[in-house]
Amino acid sequence: MNDRSLLKISKDIPYRYVRKNGEVIDILLSAIADRDSDGRIVRSLAVSVDVTEQKQAEKALRRAKEELSRYSKELERKVQLRTKEIGDILRYTPAVIYIKDLTGRYMLVNSRFEELFGVQNEAVRGKTDTEILPQPVAAQFQAGDAAVFESAAPVQVEKRIVQNDGLHTYLTVKFPLFDETGKVRRLCGIATDITAAKKAQDKLRRLSASIITNQEKERAVISRELHDELGQVLTALRMDAVWLLERLKAADPMGAERARDMCRLIDGTIQDVRSLAFRLRPGILDDLGLVDALELYTSDFERRTGVTCLFDAASIPKMDDTVATAAYRIAQEALTNVARHARAAKVEVRLQQVDGRLILSVEDDGRGFPVSVLDAAETLGAAEALGVAGMRERASLVGGHLEVYSRPGEGTRVRLILPVQALTLERNTEVKS
Ligand SMILES: Nc1ncnc2c1ncn2[C@@H]1O[C@H](COP(=O)(O)OP(=O)(O)O)[C@@H](O)[C@H]1O
Ligand SMILES: [Mg+2]
Repeated sequence: MNDRSLLKISKDIPYRYVRKNGEVIDILLSAIADRDSDGRIVRSLAVSVDVTEQKQAEKALRRAKEELSRYSKELERKVQLRTKEIGDILRYTPAVIYIKDLTGRYMLVNSRFEELFGVQNEAVRGKTDTEILPQPVAAQFQAGDAAVFESAAPVQVEKRIVQNDGLHTYLTVKFPLFDETGKVRRLCGIATDITAAKKAQDKLRRLSASIITNQEKERAVISRELHDELGQVLTALRMDAVWLLERLKAADPMGAERARDMCRLIDGTIQDVRSLAFRLRPGILDDLGLVDALELYTSDFERRTGVTCLFDAASIPKMDDTVATAAYRIAQEALTNVARHARAAKVEVRLQQVDGRLILSVEDDGRGFPVSVLDAAETLGAAEALGVAGMRERASLVGGHLEVYSRPGEGTRVRLILPVQALTLERNTEVKS
């Protein structure tokens, strides 16, 4: 009998086995048997192997695979959702958005870009500005891009572009996009059309400039009429009263006393009229300039309010009439605030030239106030704090700016800062229209 006549049988039987300690182990029993032609088992071999760990590993692998597939589906869903969201943002935003690579070739432009330049995203992809935009616009764009790539930082600029319906102003922010190693790979630009806001701002500017100019003119006229016309009438009246007084002195002492009262009353009125005319528009501002006008105003302020008022002026450069008027009015408003709000004992008005700037400061030792109330009033558009808003407006109309420092209990300092070149420049050309 040789091996060939034997029938080989092999069988794997998995079964479970519970140990005394309750632990379940998986066993694989592999049995091999040889039978002869009559079916009798002539020899057999059985091996049982503990496959618990293998089983567990298989189970864990299966679970991990399922988990992974669930996760990647979820991820795909999220990516699709985000892509759609970003796509919608790009489509519906009123801003012009584009992405370029390092060589300045467009990778993506949004629908506003397509509308604005009359191009299609597909047609633009891979092209540079020079290929799709008018030359001057392209050159302007490319110069800006270079700055972003060099600095690897965001850049914000205002750009003017001629469109079919005229000149538009865009507020553009360009920023670098980095790859995972931190290298700049692309550039993204977002441009917002601020033409309407710009126009409204310009209009408001012109309006407030013309209101201020007209107000000054009217004040000057009223001031002159008060001083000249009313002043002359009062002077004539006074001469008559004196004449009466002289006539009545001997004959009618009671009548003379009346005439003397008249003289006093007229004198007081002449003083009031002069002071009113001066406050409306000091002629001295036009005749002698800012320093003399402030000198006079501050001493008048001290007399009227009882607050000690020091005035100090270094030699200052010549300036335009509008600048001198703005500075004078700002000092006037700041001092009015001192009288009205500060409860100060002393205030110092200083006019000096520092590092190419003319600085007018009004500093009091009063009770101070939280300057945040000014910002709050500004954002709320409240009717309060119009005095400070007016000072700011006057300052910016002549090319300077205003700073207000204050804290409760620490006094207040208002500073008008004017670059010296703004003092005599032919300004307001754009404001006049
Ligand atoms: N020198 C000052 N001392 C204390 N408080 C001040 C001074 N100047 C301004 N303020 C505060 O700032 C507010 C805004 O001033 P302003 O714009 O001139 O408005 P207004 O004088 O009409 O109240 C004032 O109401 C006051 O509370
Ligand atoms: Mg005020």
